[in-house]
Amino acid sequence: MESGFRRRILEKAFEKKSRVVLAFDEHNGVEALGRLSALCESLSEHVVGIKIGLPTMLSTGLNSLSMLVERFKEDYVFISDVKMADVSHVNSLASRLLYDAGFDAVISHGFIGYEGGLEGLFNEAKRLAKGVIIVVSMSHAGSRDFIDQVADRLVQIALKHGAEGVVAPATRLRIVEEVRKTAGSSLLILTPGVGAQGAPYGAGISAGADFEIIGRSITGSTNPVEKALEVKREHGRILGQRAC
Ligand code: XMP
Repeated sequence: MESGFRRRILEKAFEKKSRVVLAFDEHNGVEALGRLSALCESLSEHVVGIKIGLPTMLSTGLNSLSMLVERFKEDYVFISDVKMADVSHVNSLASRLLYDAGFDAVISHGFIGYEGGLEGLFNEAKRLAKGVIIVVSMSHAGSRDFIDQVADRLVQIALKHGAEGVVAPATRLRIVEEVRKTAGSSLLILTPGVGAQGAPYGAGISAGADFEIIGRSITGSTNPVEKALEVKREHGRILGQRAC
């Protein structure tokens, strides 16, 4: 069964004229939940998805998060960023919990391979019509040690098994461009690394990504809505030029 994740995130991009996925990693329990809820309230016209990281999941617990996801599920797609990398039966159990909690897609490492690894996640995603996003490169320097060397093969795994998208960083634009060449329009590309990690807003979109994942420069801003608008304007400028 086809997952609704890709269709929904693209619909939201169109409706909101936005290519921004908010990354939320705050980790002070109830306070973090309150902050996330307030951000969800204020950013609904400007952000298409909310990517929630392990620090938040561990500090708030899945049940509380699940209620928040239920409350905002019409406004956003929700992505769980656990960067899964276990054996198949554990991936299957963990992803079932995350999908049942309301997440539309789960981010997994691809280097664990399919057989006995990713297959648990992909099977669960297919069964529940949910999305899988595979990490093919990372924004930190150490990504060059191992992951970047097999980035192309990770893209192939994502394509072969029907992932909805891949994560490739705006700090490695050559890799983003390569992924786009290999994947064509078959995979969404989500790029973190802009703002707090140093790449300029729009760098990932310029290299062919569909969405930029932005955390601290929005969540830490004194005016998150204005910051999201600033990013949106930059994306609009780049996409406008591309269309010309
Ligand atoms: P900031 O605050 O730096 O947050 O804007 C970025 C978010 O993206 C995640 N991140 C990555 N995820 N590959 C990934 O799959 C990466 O290379 C990468 N770099 C950053 C990070 O977890 C945070 O939530």
